[in-house]
Amino acid sequence: QRPLGVAVLGCGSVGSQVVRLLAEQADDLAARVGAPVELRGVAVRRLEAAREVEVPADLLTTDATGLVARDDVDLVVEVIGGIEPARSLILGALESGASVVTANKALLAEDGPTLFEAAERAGRDLYYEAAVAGAIPILRPLRESLAGDRVTRVLGIVNGTTNFVLDKMDTSGAGFAEALEEAQALGYAEADPTADVEGFDAAAKAAILASLAFHSRVTASDVHREGISEVTAADVASAADMGAVVKLLAICELRRGPDGEEAVSVRVHPAMIPRSHPLASVREAYNAVFVESEAAGQLMFYGPGAGGAPTASAVLGDLVTVARNRLAATRGAGESAYADRPVLPMGET
Ligand code: HSE
Repeated sequence: QRPLGVAVLGCGSVGSQVVRLLAEQADDLAARVGAPVELRGVAVRRLEAAREVEVPADLLTTDATGLVARDDVDLVVEVIGGIEPARSLILGALESGASVVTANKALLAEDGPTLFEAAERAGRDLYYEAAVAGAIPILRPLRESLAGDRVTRVLGIVNGTTNFVLDKMDTSGAGFAEALEEAQALGYAEADPTADVEGFDAAAKAAILASLAFHSRVTASDVHREGISEVTAADVASAADMGAVVKLLAICELRRGPDGEEAVSVRVHPAMIPRSHPLASVREAYNAVFVESEAAGQLMFYGPGAGGAPTASAVLGDLVTVARNRLAATRGAGESAYADRPVLPMGET
């Protein structure tokens, strides 16, 4: 089978982990996809910026536009973040016939429809599981597994940095600044932590969750947003006295509008939740998404929502899916793509 060529745009904390996993898991990925998955290039802003992993020098480039247009690039991973140049590069990749995997919550929340329409026009995949709640599989469950149900409410802790800060304030009485510094040192925060602290990051993720949960087009500008910078140690302590904990919640729900019509309401703000609620047990930089639906009832998705390797896990999962989809048209019916790994006989450990 012809190898599939991958271009990675961005080599920060997520991009460097994607590059590492592509190399380390090359054999398993090839087996799962059904063809070798080969790295064709890594686009960086400055050549000396590539860090953490050893990217072979001949794969590094500052010409991202040229990289996505190459004939031997089938799959483009965009982990630069922000609106531009990410948007133009994704559009360029789709136009050149590549499938795209992105972790770009800000771009999807601001201008998702432009990207989805471009993907549809090109007849290519655009996957973005890593954009919300890092490693937690939540977008595909909303889009696919729950597509036959009626979701009524989604409550999410979708920003690891603020959850880490609030948890630290709750457990150790640390001040806001001290806790934030620690979260930044651990690599959870955005380059500019204002996006985390003021709720912009959570609002972008809330818009994406609401769009999928309620099959509507919700953008970041539809989301009421309030961050945690006004939350004081005294607020956290008085919540504790009441048996509650302060969390930055993304709340997406169906409500009746003023004219009685059902409408989508999305907001992000600090909220006191009883310690008995499952979301109260979400500690440190973990994320969780609590889903309520008519038939399934209550579901909770929990896991690492930030950090290079967990986010790269979701990116690689999408990469396998879009790679398989590309090959599906050419692969014979019934042929599967599984590693030829032996199964231990019963009783052997
Ligand atoms: N800064 C984000 C967070 C990273 O803290 O959750 C993951 O999107």
